[in-house]
Amino acid sequence: MSKLPSLSQSAKERLLNKALDAHDQKKQKQETLPPNSTVRGLFGRKFNDKLCRFDQFDGYKEIQYIELGGKSLGVSSPFFKKHDGIAGAVSLINGQEFINFSSYNYLGLGGHPDVTNAAKNAIDQYGTTVSASRMVSGEREVQQQLEKKIAELYSADDALVFVSGHATNVSTIGYLFGPKDLILHDALAHNSILQGTQLSGATRLSFKHNDWEHLEDILGRQRKDFERVLIVIEGLYSMDGDIPDLQKFITIKKAFKAFLMVDEAHSIGVLGSQGKGISEHCEINPHDIDIWMGTLSKSFASCGGYIAGESALIKHLRHYAPGFLYSVGISPCLAAAAISAIEVMQNEPSRVTLLKERGHYFLRKAQEAGIDTGKSAGFSVIPAMAGSSKNAVVLSNKLFERGINVQPILRPAVEDKAARLRFFMSSEHTENQIDFTIDCLASALEEI
Ligand SMILES: Cc1ncc(COP(=O)(O)O)c(C=O)c1O
Repeated sequence: MSKLPSLSQSAKERLLNKALDAHDQKKQKQETLPPNSTVRGLFGRKFNDKLCRFDQFDGYKEIQYIELGGKSLGVSSPFFKKHDGIAGAVSLINGQEFINFSSYNYLGLGGHPDVTNAAKNAIDQYGTTVSASRMVSGEREVQQQLEKKIAELYSADDALVFVSGHATNVSTIGYLFGPKDLILHDALAHNSILQGTQLSGATRLSFKHNDWEHLEDILGRQRKDFERVLIVIEGLYSMDGDIPDLQKFITIKKAFKAFLMVDEAHSIGVLGSQGKGISEHCEINPHDIDIWMGTLSKSFASCGGYIAGESALIKHLRHYAPGFLYSVGISPCLAAAAISAIEVMQNEPSRVTLLKERGHYFLRKAQEAGIDTGKSAGFSVIPAMAGSSKNAVVLSNKLFERGINVQPILRPAVEDKAARLRFFMSSEHTENQIDFTIDCLASALEEI
């Protein structure tokens, strides 16, 4: 906000709020405007101009408006910040050091020397790419080693690695299920789960967040109308940081002969004393989950996603899942980095313990300071509710001015009234950093 030195902080915020309100009103008005003028294509054909231009897409117009509003008020965008080095508990942004809560480097393994060296060695051996789909000619031993490691982690028959976590969900759900099937997902499911469901053509129903009774009720009424049924939940929810009662979901899936899929993007390496995820945390048999899904981009300091489960599932996906079959194999350096990260986690379980301790410490301190942390269980993800998207942006900028980097979560990712700051914890955050952050956050919340 330094570009408007003559205005007080609160005056700048009032201006920002006004601009965003005006934008909302303007958007509503635009939606009721009559269709734009027509343009002519070849051979005299007439078309609606609005529907032939990229700058007329609603999403693009919204981005433009918010950027312009922000610029004119001197409010810098909280997005696309450039980090100069490794983004851990601290990070250099434009040459300045920040306490960093915006990166899911949960176990501090992004930038760990062993992980970095494993990636470098793999580059020396294989180069940076496998230059083909794995089935065609992109298979490398290091990819197979990673899949073996992941399968072991879940005591599963086998595992399959995709080049992106998002693509893993889209391709697996989208490929396995079809129009005669039913997919039931938690109301707060990640976008990749929704996209996969949409792609599948299955009927999609959501149940209330973490509400297994609601799920049971839907299945009781609807199960008979469908062939296959998939229930999708997450091990730890990426916006709220809370955990499902896994045993209840297992009982329901068994009762209704449904498949249960658990996305462990934010729970693998986080939950359980060894970091084995929600099965360890809830002390359930990992075989009770039909489809284990996870990402390599969080605790495992790499990039990609995986599915683990029984041989028939993995072999089927290995031969036919479009996001695997028609996409390049994971780069050897990323596979090697993930293997090394899993090994460091297994050799140093104190990292998992520390992450838990720091998360619990943050949660307790925040609650003592009267900050609304929603339903967070105090592990890797802790939200601080802001009340609106506008407040979340202002809060994020205020903390940034005090040397703390934390991302606001705005609509449409969450409802406007549920906008928040989302704190990603790392085992490397210190209690001092957390104390300072809570002090700054509490006073920033008072100011708004
Ligand atoms: C629950 C969940 N699933 C899947 C993904 C996609 O993973 P990736 O970012 O590794 O593609 C994310 C990303 O944050 C996520 O939160």
